[in-house]
Amino acid sequence: MSGKPGIAEQGPTLDDGRPLAPFGRRACRVTRNIASGGYRIFSAVDPEGPDPAAGQFYMLAAESGWAAEDGRPYLARAFSVADSDPEGDRVRLDFLVQGVGPGTGRLCSLQEGERLWVHGPLGRPFGVPREAVPGAHGAILVGGGIGIAPLALWRRRLAAAGVPTRVLLGFRDRERSGGLDLFRCSELKVASEDGHQGHRGYVTELLEVMLRGDDADGAVVYACGPPAMLEAVRLLCAERGVACELAMEAPMACGFGACFGCAVPLAEGGYMRLCVDGPVVRGADLATALVPGGGH
Ligand SMILES: Cc1cc2nc3c(=O)[nH]c(=O)nc-3n(C[C@H](O)[C@H](O)[C@H](O)COP(=O)(O)OP(=O)(O)OC[C@H]3O[C@@H](n4cnc5c(N)ncnc54)[C@H](O)[C@@H]3O)c2cc1C
Ligand code: FES
Repeated sequence: MSGKPGIAEQGPTLDDGRPLAPFGRRACRVTRNIASGGYRIFSAVDPEGPDPAAGQFYMLAAESGWAAEDGRPYLARAFSVADSDPEGDRVRLDFLVQGVGPGTGRLCSLQEGERLWVHGPLGRPFGVPREAVPGAHGAILVGGGIGIAPLALWRRRLAAAGVPTRVLLGFRDRERSGGLDLFRCSELKVASEDGHQGHRGYVTELLEVMLRGDDADGAVVYACGPPAMLEAVRLLCAERGVACELAMEAPMACGFGACFGCAVPLAEGGYMRLCVDGPVVRGADLATALVPGGGH
């Protein structure tokens, strides 16, 4: 493990340390697909790598049954990497998926042995606390719904680097919850809006209490979830003077900067393309986290 746990361990990198994605898509063999609460976790072995950084994403499409009878889903879909395990030149990639439409539905039905097209890893990953704020030493991870996915890999990388990390995860109801198997840690608190597990209410209520603690100043908040949750996190952190990084979603047609479909407004004016300038964005750089079409 290098000193930069968000950053990959192998292969060529860009100037800012991000792993360089191989050109074009490549076929990966699916090795498992299991239920995890109301979500599914599937794994595929990437024959070329590189090992992704936490917060990065891949554009995925099944080799068969994609753009089938009615042409949907036509384009590949964006998915955060939830875990990875390099084995020599190959890397096992784990994804957490919620079936909400034709693309996610097809990925939920992948069988072991099938082939999956992957393009990535793409985008800007999370940065370690001391990069966000000099002297920051701890991390608070806040996940909502399927947005918990990138935080699983990030928690594991932070733990390996010895960064004290607390995890807060929130779900709407039993059906729209899962993925807890990806978080094997004791510093975990859960909230659910229907009260089926943990605190009844929003995960941001747990964050509000945590940010009132004496040690909150030395922490950086990392969040991923629906836009309303991200906006609440952004405002709470701004109020409390705590730095935050938000892993955001927007509709992505290409994933590498060509289509401008993922434009998000910046606090200083103008726009960024979330696929290349994000998906991880500093809260302070955003005008709002309420991005149309982001999150479901
Ligand atoms: C960087 C990034 C990382 C993501 N990571 C994950 C992940 O780890 N697991 C996961 O299950 N999903 C993730 N998503 C969301 C996933 O890409 C969408 O759910 C998927 O594209 C929907 O495709 P579909 O064909 O199933 O449904 P569609 O028919 O395309 O859409 C079904 C519903 O989902 C909404 N939707 C479509 N695309 C998006 C989008 N990009 N973001 C939010 N809502 C959308 C639509 O408005 C519609 O309500 C991520 C998205 C981005 C941009
Ligand atoms: S998804 Fe095409 S520019 Fe971002």
